Amino acid sequence: MALPDLVTRYAFFTGKGGVGKTSLSCATGLALAEAGRKVLIVSTDPASNLDEVLDTELSSTPTPIRGIDKLFALNIDPEAAAQDYKERMVGPYRGVLPPAAIASMEEQFSGACTVEIAAFDEFAKLLGGPSATKGFDHVIFDTAPTGHTLRLLTLPSAWSEFISSSSGGASCLGPLAGLEKQKALYAATVDHLSNPKMTTVILVSRPEGSALREAERTRGELAELGVTNLRLALNGIIVAKTLGDAIADAMTVRGQAAIAHMPEGLTGLPRSDTPFLPRGTTGLGALRNLISPKSMALHQPLPGAPIELPPGLDALIDDIALQGHGVIMTMGKGGVGKTTIAATIAMSLARLGHQVTLSTTDPAAHVFQAVKEHVPGLDIARIDPEREVANYRDEVLAKAGSGLDAAGLAMLEEDLRSPCTEEIAVFRAFARTVDEGKDRFVVLDTAPTGHTILLLDAAESYHREVLRTQADMPEAVRSLLPRLRDPNFTKTIIVTLAEATPVHEAERLQQDLARAGITPYAWTINQSLLASGTKDPLLAERGQYEKPFIRRVIEELASRTALIAWRQ
Ligand SMILES: Nc1ncnc2c1ncn2[C@@H]1O[C@H](COP(=O)(O)OP(=O)(O)OP(=O)(O)O)[C@@H](O)[C@H]1O
Ligand SMILES: [Mg+2]
Repeated sequence: MALPDLVTRYAFFTGKGGVGKTSLSCATGLALAEAGRKVLIVSTDPASNLDEVLDTELSSTPTPIRGIDKLFALNIDPEAAAQDYKERMVGPYRGVLPPAAIASMEEQFSGACTVEIAAFDEFAKLLGGPSATKGFDHVIFDTAPTGHTLRLLTLPSAWSEFISSSSGGASCLGPLAGLEKQKALYAATVDHLSNPKMTTVILVSRPEGSALREAERTRGELAELGVTNLRLALNGIIVAKTLGDAIADAMTVRGQAAIAHMPEGLTGLPRSDTPFLPRGTTGLGALRNLISPKSMALHQPLPGAPIELPPGLDALIDDIALQGHGVIMTMGKGGVGKTTIAATIAMSLARLGHQVTLSTTDPAAHVFQAVKEHVPGLDIARIDPEREVANYRDEVLAKAGSGLDAAGLAMLEEDLRSPCTEEIAVFRAFARTVDEGKDRFVVLDTAPTGHTILLLDAAESYHREVLRTQADMPEAVRSLLPRLRDPNFTKTIIVTLAEATPVHEAERLQQDLARAGITPYAWTINQSLLASGTKDPLLAERGQYEKPFIRRVIEELASRTALIAWRQ
């Protein structure tokens, strides 16, 4: 089977960044719709590209997909959901409370937490509420990369538990009363999730060690949540047609080795294998190739207009080293190679004699596997959400708790248990890590796009808080945004692949960064098959397919570009 077979009403496609969640969830939805089922595809990804893959402009309500009956899709837009949520909370008090009180309530609802809970609310309505998806035979969730999804899936129980145990009446999200109504919905959401007759979770992975390890970690965490109806979808499998091409052979051998050594826990799952397609997965035509790859015709790769390929990473590293210290952040879609490039830059700067810290905001924290040898002058770290939450709690309890009586202390401890605390703790750790750039190099491998945008939004709302209240914010938090905006302090490198969605998502990221007043220092195009020199027909066709995207980055999107060939 090229695609997972789906019989339950609800399905989740989850997996490491860039493995093919959106492509496979759309192809599966299309196959079901073509079989006469009425299907709704939902994206919870803050940086969704569903509209691009389905070639239809989407909104936050079900939209019919052009060119196929019975297929609909929608994006859960966290920002819009947060706006609605805020109005739902503040609206009843307008004209009742004085303007200053309304203003402070509004400010309270403009944090990253509200965005998270509001997005979750929308998701719970679709999964837990019967009315929102009435009339659909299947509801397919194209979820964001793993970290974010697990958080989304654990939230129902986190909030249900928080609501039922909270007696204080107030939380960082305002009157609990507003959430009380949701309690039944959250409970239904948890129930539907763990009911094997209602929900299937598809673990999407590429035939690669790190992606398979992440799938196994997700399988384990879902088992703890009582979610057991799982499938494994192996995507982008390459089997060289003719032997003798070094690149194609290396890809084939690597894929087969990864599958042969996949974690034990995955071997028992029903599995589907989807081959690597030379021309990507954007549009219904390409999605139909995913449904029946055998009927796809291979084209002789037409060598388009010659293109002068940009230089490698070395030129960038030499220029960065001149600064002597500062922060370098690699950003981009999941699975494009941010960690590998961050590690390469960090090791090179250390070899040039600089003191370097390599760290990550990505909960998956692959940096430790990316550096395979000891390099003098290089420290490797990570922002560990659990450790940061514990530290932050202790700090707040020590500072604010000392003057409180027992009831006040209990209330504070309750508030610190709210799922938002992790947002704040991770954000502060992020600010401290950037602060280290004052006197050394800090290379930050950031989490996939959606997650990082939320972190930057937090930076902005904190900065507003700094300007508004002059509250006793740590210096690192106070100067975070000015440092991120200072091109002499922070160099942002956008990492992409020479493909449709990675380039468009990187372009949107560049626009989001511009809104935050940040101008990227350079773009890096990674894993280029065109630059690898492969002669394998399938890979060479993909190489030709890269040209328009490389040209667009060089000529329209980047001030500096580095290109890295696909490497064994
Ligand atoms: N079987 C395949 N063959 C060739 N290219 C593929 C295949 N599946 C996906 N791709 C390409 O890989 C890239 C990532 O795919 P996709 O966007 O579906 O992944 P994702 O898991 O949803 O990513 P994200 O974590 O960023 O949401 C896209 O450019 C897509 O065209
Ligand atoms: Mg996706």
